[in-house]
Amino acid sequence: MTKYVVAMVEEIPSGGRKIVEVAGRSIGVFNLGGEFFALRNRCPHQGGPLCSGSLGGLISSSHPGEYHYSRAGEILRCPWHGWEFDIRTGQSWCDPESMQARMYPVAVEPGETLAKGPLVAETVPVSVEEDYIVVTL
Ligand code: FES
Repeated sequence: MTKYVVAMVEEIPSGGRKIVEVAGRSIGVFNLGGEFFALRNRCPHQGGPLCSGSLGGLISSSHPGEYHYSRAGEILRCPWHGWEFDIRTGQSWCDPESMQARMYPVAVEPGETLAKGPLVAETVPVSVEEDYIVVTL
């Protein structure tokens, strides 16, 4: 397992994302209200650039004529065929039993800690005054 510094925390505001290249993989890092999630930028359906897709929410209904919109900005829609994935879990809403987006552990760590190492690879320069988003592969 290797840690990769992929961004300063302030680079990805709430509701935002950054797509990074780490160890030959394209990965999307998302900020949902201050929580960070990382998904592989490769759709498990047919390999589309999943993390460049639009963000939406869930519409549910308890009975005809009424609907409820929830989880705004937490559902990622693949730009190729529109399959939807939960950013928090990687679960597909089209085929939840067998289709899941690959996820990676993410943490926020202070530059002061990271500067001491060991970091095998860095994708952004680290300064002790900032906080960073770290993805583990
Ligand atoms: S490749 Fe993503 S929905 Fe088909």
